[in-house]
Amino acid sequence: MQDGDIERSGAKSAGEAGPKKVFVKSYGCQMNVYDAQRMADVLAPEGYVETATMEDADLVVLNTCHIREKAAEKVYSELGRVRVLKQERAAQGAETKVVVAGCVAQAEGAEILKRASVVDLVVGPQSYHRLPDLVRAAKSERVVDTEFPVDDKFSALPQPAKDKIRTRGVSAFVTVQEGCDKFCTFCVVPYTRGAEVSRPVAKILADVAALAEAGVREVSLLGQNVNAFHGEDEAGRSITLGGLFERIARIPGIARIRYTTSHPRDMDEELIAAHRDLPQLMPYLHLPVQSGSDRILDAMNRRHTAAEYLSIIERVRAARPDIALSSDFIVGFPGETDAEFRDTMRLVETVGFASAFSFKYSPRPGTPAADLGDQVPEEVKSDRIHELQDLLVKQQRAFNAATVGRTVDVLLEKPGRHPGQLAGKSPYLQAVQIEDAEARIGDIVRVEITAPGSNSLFGRRIEETAIA
Ligand code: SAH
Ligand code: SF4
Ligand code: F3S
Repeated sequence: MQDGDIERSGAKSAGEAGPKKVFVKSYGCQMNVYDAQRMADVLAPEGYVETATMEDADLVVLNTCHIREKAAEKVYSELGRVRVLKQERAAQGAETKVVVAGCVAQAEGAEILKRASVVDLVVGPQSYHRLPDLVRAAKSERVVDTEFPVDDKFSALPQPAKDKIRTRGVSAFVTVQEGCDKFCTFCVVPYTRGAEVSRPVAKILADVAALAEAGVREVSLLGQNVNAFHGEDEAGRSITLGGLFERIARIPGIARIRYTTSHPRDMDEELIAAHRDLPQLMPYLHLPVQSGSDRILDAMNRRHTAAEYLSIIERVRAARPDIALSSDFIVGFPGETDAEFRDTMRLVETVGFASAFSFKYSPRPGTPAADLGDQVPEEVKSDRIHELQDLLVKQQRAFNAATVGRTVDVLLEKPGRHPGQLAGKSPYLQAVQIEDAEARIGDIVRVEITAPGSNSLFGRRIEETAIA
């Protein structure tokens, strides 16, 4: 999960009054970050340029997340701030339109208009390609669009300009699959994002080729269940994620492929083999398990056991021994006993994760688990999350410490914290800082890791740049 993708664009649009400005703030998962970029892209032909400061914005878009209660509540506290801003701007004769997009928009729809008078437009994750029309309509009335339209949203989205892609960096997200049919009993995603849909292979390849031409070196393929991908190729055949990787690996310039988020049920042989056969596919797998207890996994409707998860991990490790593993965990699912929590701790000990996300169970309105009687008290959830996170942090430190002294390829992504430093990522998604006068952003350099830091590793370039 990551928050916020706010960026600045230097482009000017025509018009005496100067360009209209849009500020987009994203909460929640990477798909929201991707969507936020696409919202900016669809508004660009309308004369909107992006601004990194909400204070200058004529259009404020909050791209929201509904996954846990805290995430959903963030939007209302932010709207309080937006409201003050809108009033201040109005006093100076400037109009501000306020949009709530994303998963809270989908889940709450018109409720948001009732609860927050500052909001002019509510638009769901499957309708944002209609933003230009919706924003026009919102000039005269308050608008809600939370339909799941039959038209393909992605086809209606314009390709961003090359320089725009470049300012977004050398690592880019590409949504290849959206929605979820799995209906885990705790989760809102099937309701906020709709049914599982894979994009056609040719369109994905065209998007990736355009990114590569603009200088992108790494693509992260996104989907709520990305490994359930089954997009059609030109011949009408259904292609798996492993098959898609193979085709993407042939696109010149693309040196690294990543993907998230996978479901254990969809880890097929082709995908595991891709980890063995494709050097471009990075040795990193985020595979959420949620719990180590079979009874809880069943109550969550995950449809696999802890042993099945461990056997997948074994197969993946056999294919790619150096693979770094990551996962998501929920503690305090309704009815979770101490012994069942111990099962989760044991699974973590058994696997050894390079990184992980863990959450206290948050009952979400409309999901089956929210109505279960046996809710776990808050203090118990807190104790369990602390214990779990202590172990996960220990494992992450051990993983990073084990990299010290090793040589890894680092994709340089941005200037480092201090002048003369560059920051990038190892194949295992570790942040690495190097001091280097010659290397440039977008280079992949061989780096010897010299020391672990609190948030990133430090290293020294040992060889000339590796060009794919
Ligand atoms: N599609 C992915 C993840 C979707 S949401 C998957 O299938 O795993 C990201 C993570 O948020 C989940 O993996 C889960 O750990 C967490 N999450 C989802 N709903 C939650 C809830 N109601 N309470 C706490 N954590 C939740
Ligand atoms: Fe949510 Fe489960 Fe679907 Fe993941 S697989 S998005 S956790 S319902
Ligand atoms: Fe949140 Fe929606 Fe992503 S609920 S995690 S923004 S799919």
